[in-house]
Amino acid sequence: MEVFETIRTRRSIRRFRPDPLSRAQIERLLEAARWAPSAGNLQPWIFVVVTSPEVRAELAAAAYDQEFVAEAPAVVGVAAALAATAPYGGRGRELYCLQDTAAAVQNVLLAAHEMGLGTCWVGAFDEAAVARALGLGAEERPVALIPVGLPAQSGRSGRRELSDVVRWIE
Ligand SMILES: Cc1cc2nc3c(=O)[nH]c(=O)nc-3n(C[C@H](O)[C@H](O)[C@H](O)COP(=O)(O)O)c2cc1C
Repeated sequence: MEVFETIRTRRSIRRFRPDPLSRAQIERLLEAARWAPSAGNLQPWIFVVVTSPEVRAELAAAAYDQEFVAEAPAVVGVAAALAATAPYGGRGRELYCLQDTAAAVQNVLLAAHEMGLGTCWVGAFDEAAVARALGLGAEERPVALIPVGLPAQSGRSGRRELSDVVRWIE
């Protein structure tokens, strides 16, 4: 798929078929993730791949009972390694490491779509509970959960008009 087409047709998927993903499929998603840009190329990201049904259920509960998180055959937890952006001080810790990990998340969503897989960016969760379930350390902040699997629905969403959101300075 051409990149613009991939961007244009990706939609959040919240219903999944139970078929497991292969390790090669998951590694391809992570390969896409690690080529995201990051401030100073510090790459302050951690990816935790969860296929365990018990831990997926824990993550769904931590995400305020968003059950589709447990239904997806795999969930990629994305965390920011806060100390990794120390060279940039407060801006690194509070902004860059979140921007960097967000870029990695978007790469995963697009790569998955291109591979015929469905995903949803899940950000509504209890951070402490997700950190516990993912086994994260004190300086590792969970940023997103990405349930991923074969889609069992087609997503629908719209967008604001460009004229509502664009300002030109000429
Ligand atoms: C930072 C962030 C957090 C989100 N958190 C959730 C979430 O917790 N649960 C959910 O179902 N969707 C979540 N979404 C997905 C959005 O609802 C979705 O991207 C938006 O409605 C646009 O739909 P689309 O992805 O199908 O284009 C989140 C998206 C972002 C970027």
